[in-house]
Amino acid sequence: MTAATAALFACCLQAVTADTQAQDQGAAGASDGPVAGPPAAVPPIPATPSGRLVGAASCAAASCHGGGRRIEGLHFSASLVWAGRDPHANAWDVLNTPRSKTMLELLGAGQASAPQSAVQDARCLNCHATVEQPLTGTVPVNFLHHDGVGCEACHGAARDWIGLHVTSDWKSLPATAKAALGYVELGSSLTERARRCAECHVGGVGRDVNHDLIAAGHPRLDYEFSTFHTNYPKHWQPRADTPDKTDLEQSPTFTLDAWQAGRFAAAEACLKLLEDRTTAGRPWPELAEYSCFSCHHNLENRSWYQQRRSNGRPGWETWSLTPLRNSQNPKLLPLTSSIETLAGQMNQSAPDRLLVSRSARTSLTALQPLLTENHQWTTPAVDALCLEQIRGARRTTTDGTTLAAASWDEMAQLYLALRAAVAARRTLDTQDTRNEKISQHLEVIRSQLLFQPGYDSPGTSSIDPVLAISAAVNQIELLLDPKTPQP
Ligand code: HEC
Ligand code: HEC
Ligand code: HEC
Ligand code: HEC
Repeated sequence: MTAATAALFACCLQAVTADTQAQDQGAAGASDGPVAGPPAAVPPIPATPSGRLVGAASCAAASCHGGGRRIEGLHFSASLVWAGRDPHANAWDVLNTPRSKTMLELLGAGQASAPQSAVQDARCLNCHATVEQPLTGTVPVNFLHHDGVGCEACHGAARDWIGLHVTSDWKSLPATAKAALGYVELGSSLTERARRCAECHVGGVGRDVNHDLIAAGHPRLDYEFSTFHTNYPKHWQPRADTPDKTDLEQSPTFTLDAWQAGRFAAAEACLKLLEDRTTAGRPWPELAEYSCFSCHHNLENRSWYQQRRSNGRPGWETWSLTPLRNSQNPKLLPLTSSIETLAGQMNQSAPDRLLVSRSARTSLTALQPLLTENHQWTTPAVDALCLEQIRGARRTTTDGTTLAAASWDEMAQLYLALRAAVAARRTLDTQDTRNEKISQHLEVIRSQLLFQPGYDSPGTSSIDPVLAISAAVNQIELLLDPKTPQP
């Protein structure tokens, strides 16, 4: 297997501090950096901008977001931060790398009807450039695409609001009026923010990193909003609360607020993507919906992973749904039970497209009320969440061993949930000495989840990482609930 899965520990398992991460991003790309100059296949004729997009350059004047008024606040330098440190500013450039060229070849670029380069391929541009609506097929070269994922990819196409948003009328304009102009408000709801990221980091209609793309060399997408948000180099700063708007990032439990909003937003995107994948003509069943490591493993040695998964069939295991599937919260029951119906259908040897599509719809309906909920965390609520995730993930194997979880994805998602929770615990209860101990156990889990050097899937180590992870998880459970029965 290629570097496909390395992406997960590149981002999600990184010890997160925003600043070091930003530097890492620069270094990580070095070996596969953009090729200098425009690729030969692309005619250098800029097309006129279309629709309501104006391009990142329109925001970058010194008096606007270009840094001329830096002293007044970081958001006046947003364009500088984005151009200099934001991975999104390179999103189009990576389509010119040898890696992307190889991907296109493997995807059939030699055929006359297929797009000949990634920068003309709607399948790539929909996530690696700023588009108003997902494009299809072969796309004429448009200079706006060179921006990569620009300001408008997140804040909305700006033609109809760019003039207005610098006037004094803007602040008093109702949210609905702003939205009608194409403005996307990311400051008032974490769900809206997480949804915007999920469009590309999970996918959706017209945005699909399916098994064809992964097998051609695309990294697998493993999005967890709280981690990605922390790792994202910010071009804004904390601001004072106003009567009509509070700064969501000032919440003492922000990491967990984001984890919660993110798991619902990611599930929504992932269910919509599944629904779209059932469309006639697409590869079906779509292999990217199933557990990667049950098909991809070292053939010589039976790894811990195979031994634990001996029914011979890869199970339906979507990264983004894992934290919900392991939840025992009664409030989530309508959703979790409809997802289990879906699992039953996806685990048939020939899943029925129509049934799957209907069940994905039903699950999306069950999800809607959860997307608007606001959570106020207290320490007992945080602990209940941790215990629910731990107990939901736990599996007993055929040989009677009880493990923290059955698969790498489940263990990684459990780790991410517990990490967000302990961050919240640290601010809610600064005196609690257990926080430090939990963090130490989490570090053990993280180090066990990292792949061995030279591997990009869980390795065939003689040491069983699952036993070490299970022991650490048990310790955390015991710290949170001393009444836990001991084996
Ligand atoms: C659903 C959105 C989506 C689609 C479709 C998509 N990508 Fe990506 N791509 C991403 C994201 C998100 C990342 C970053 C992955 C991460 O770190 O989590 C990425 C990463 C990459 C990378 C690695 C970049 C690096 O810095 O290492 C390459 C190369 C790439 N994509 C090329 C392509 C090509 C070529 C296509 C079309 C055939 C394509 N992508 C289609 C979203 C997408
Ligand atoms: C990947 C998504 C993304 C991209 C790309 C992006 N932003 Fe942002 N931006 C955000 C998020 C998230 C926030 C924080 C939410 C908020 O305050 O509205 C934000 C906040 C801001 C703010 C502060 C808003 C306030 O009310 O304090 C400004 C100004 C801004 N962005 C301008 C830009 C400009 C200019 C660009 C392009 C150079 C850009 N952004 C690109 C996501 C993005
Ligand atoms: C229009 C599509 C799009 C949107 C919307 C988007 N991203 Fe991305 N993001 C990408 C692509 C493509 C890459 C890979 C860029 C590259 O490798 O050059 C990426 C890379 C990243 C990375 C670096 C990942 C790594 O492994 O190093 C982070 C962090 C990130 N995005 C966070 C966010 C957050 C947070 C949001 C929402 C506020 C968001 N993104 C919205 C497309 C998008
Ligand atoms: C049902 C079994 C199955 C599942 C599940 C599966 N794959 Fe594959 N994968 C294959 C087969 C068979 C091939 C070779 C044929 C091809 O390229 O499509 C392959 C090819 C690949 C390749 C290219 C290997 C190479 O050496 O060129 C990568 C990378 C890959 N898969 C990653 C993944 C990831 C990541 C997942 C989970 C999201 C996944 N696969 C899920 C069966 C599977």
